[in-house]
Amino acid sequence: MPDTATSADFAPAGFAPDLLAWYDRHRRVLPWRAPPGQKVDPYRVWLSEIMLQQTTVAAVKDYFLDFTGRWPTVADLAAAPVEEVLRAWAGLGYYARARNMHRCAVLVVERHGGVFPSTEAELRQLPGIGDYTAAAIAAIAFDRPAAVTDGNVERVMARIFAVETPLPPAKPILKTHAAALTPRRRPGDYAQAVMDLGATICTPRSPKCILCPWSTPCLARKRGIAEDLPAKLAKAPKPTRRAVAFWLTDAQGNVLLRRRPPKGMLGGMMEVPSSAWVEQPMPDLAAVLAEAPGGSGWRLLPGLVRHGFTHFDFELTVAAGRIAGPVDGAVLVPPDRLGEAGLPTAMWKIARHALRHLE
Ligand code: ADE
Repeated sequence: MPDTATSADFAPAGFAPDLLAWYDRHRRVLPWRAPPGQKVDPYRVWLSEIMLQQTTVAAVKDYFLDFTGRWPTVADLAAAPVEEVLRAWAGLGYYARARNMHRCAVLVVERHGGVFPSTEAELRQLPGIGDYTAAAIAAIAFDRPAAVTDGNVERVMARIFAVETPLPPAKPILKTHAAALTPRRRPGDYAQAVMDLGATICTPRSPKCILCPWSTPCLARKRGIAEDLPAKLAKAPKPTRRAVAFWLTDAQGNVLLRRRPPKGMLGGMMEVPSSAWVEQPMPDLAAVLAEAPGGSGWRLLPGLVRHGFTHFDFELTVAAGRIAGPVDGAVLVPPDRLGEAGLPTAMWKIARHALRHLE
């Protein structure tokens, strides 16, 4: 038997109906899905797909409900100030998504009269929409037979076809398999069905093959290697970047925050000011304090704040100091209103650390 089957070996025609029958019984109820048989709003599909990029369904649900409550249409979102959108996004991570999302909403209103285009090619022209998201929106919102391949789908394809080539080199092979199985009938439901299969049955560990509608043709199950796939190349270890955060308060206890520059990490988000984020061991504190936006009476708080970003681990020491008054380009926020400031998670960790040590 060949090591890896091709999609054609499998008479793919039988695959989609089995999966769709399973989906009709077991589909997940998610806030961005229309009830069976009803038309879905492309705005809600787009919003959910942007939020779900590299983020779990559990983390997205509440944000999705909050966004659609505040901004029920793409025109409402386009009309909102970007700072307000960033504040609502705070905590969801990958903040470039929020800025691109807002630019995309504005373009859909300006160029497309507030109606999302329906083809992958047109969708890909919009900010924040890459190959995966264009395919997902074309399939789910417009029922086009686009091959949707995210991490879940890659895992399912690697197992069905016993693809032992590791990721990422296996990506094009897995995409070809995904495309070959995509049906012309109900492609939108099919796309969501593969996602649900990957999330609930064909899970990374302990796949529930006994409940799987594709267990009979699955080559990895037959060979007893389902849990070992997909293989992955070893990742380079993450570097650690270090900085000192400047927790500056005035005589009333208000905390100094400022907005980060629009480009780069946490672009446009509110922050606790800090020294440069560097990979070297922490330099001398006196030298680092020169980077603070003012302040005196510094004291170093015990312990470290840690946060994992995608490409590096972040390690902060917090220095607390006193500020005489307002600073250009910064705001002073009462500690009990920090929750409304739209701090990203890394900044929240700094705030919690400082408040705990300064109580
Ligand atoms: N992950 C990405 N898109 C999704 C969707 N539409 N439903 C569930 N999980 C997803």
